[in-house]
Amino acid sequence: MKGVILAGGTGSRLYPLTKVTNKHLLPVYDKPMIYYPLQTLIDAGIKEIMIVSGHGHAGHFLELLGSGADFGVKFTYEIQDEAGGIAQALGLAKDFVDNDNVTVILGDNIYQDNFKDAIQSFTNGAHIFLKAVTDANRFGVAEVDMSNCHVLGIEEKPLRPKSNFAVTGLYIYSNDVFDVIKTLKPSGRGELEITDVNNHYVKEGQMKFTVLDGYWSDAGTFESLLRAGTIVRQHR
Ligand code: DAU
Repeated sequence: MKGVILAGGTGSRLYPLTKVTNKHLLPVYDKPMIYYPLQTLIDAGIKEIMIVSGHGHAGHFLELLGSGADFGVKFTYEIQDEAGGIAQALGLAKDFVDNDNVTVILGDNIYQDNFKDAIQSFTNGAHIFLKAVTDANRFGVAEVDMSNCHVLGIEEKPLRPKSNFAVTGLYIYSNDVFDVIKTLKPSGRGELEITDVNNHYVKEGQMKFTVLDGYWSDAGTFESLLRAGTIVRQHR
């Protein structure tokens, strides 16, 4: 299993905090944001990790994180030229992932749960992780049938969410995800959407899900950045 952290994008919702630096270098309580998804992958037992970032700040990630030796893992760096979406950023990891499976984490997602068991028992298809939230319309939202553990469909930021289950930003995919990404068309906001990737696996009947026990937050808005720092501090 290879790991990929997606730390591109524009961070526009955090402007002017992101005017001269990258969102994932901003502090969440006492650490740079990217340390949290990084620790999540390391705690899951992943040893080879690619960091995808945008132009301008790639050198800062390199200086902050180095080769990976300090963390006991190996880092590879990749540049996403333009913020073409989460799925496009993942597509850049194709050669790095090679013939392995891949766990992808969004660089602004902060988790308490450990993913080791889910990763070790992963066989094929895709696996997503859901969290019940009160503001589901900010996220990808999964409609699920709890009686047989099926995902019925996922909608990206729906006006009227069909459930309160946010699709959080850690995804496990088999190697064929790179073939799926090649078939995608840009969405209304001009991005290759990870929700379209996930719906492919839903349609194929190859999507599994887990509802998370621990806390989870994104950190891409002023409110969620503040909340993420507060949650981390409370649990430290
Ligand atoms: O936080 C979970 C949510 O993340 C999911 O529920 C949504 O389904 C998913 O689309 C995503 O929603 P956001 O609109 O919050 O994603 P955002 O554009 O903030 O991007 C999240 C991270 O992905 C960001 O911190 C860096 C990375 N990213 C994003 C884009 C658009 C890239 O590396 N490249 C990109 O082009």
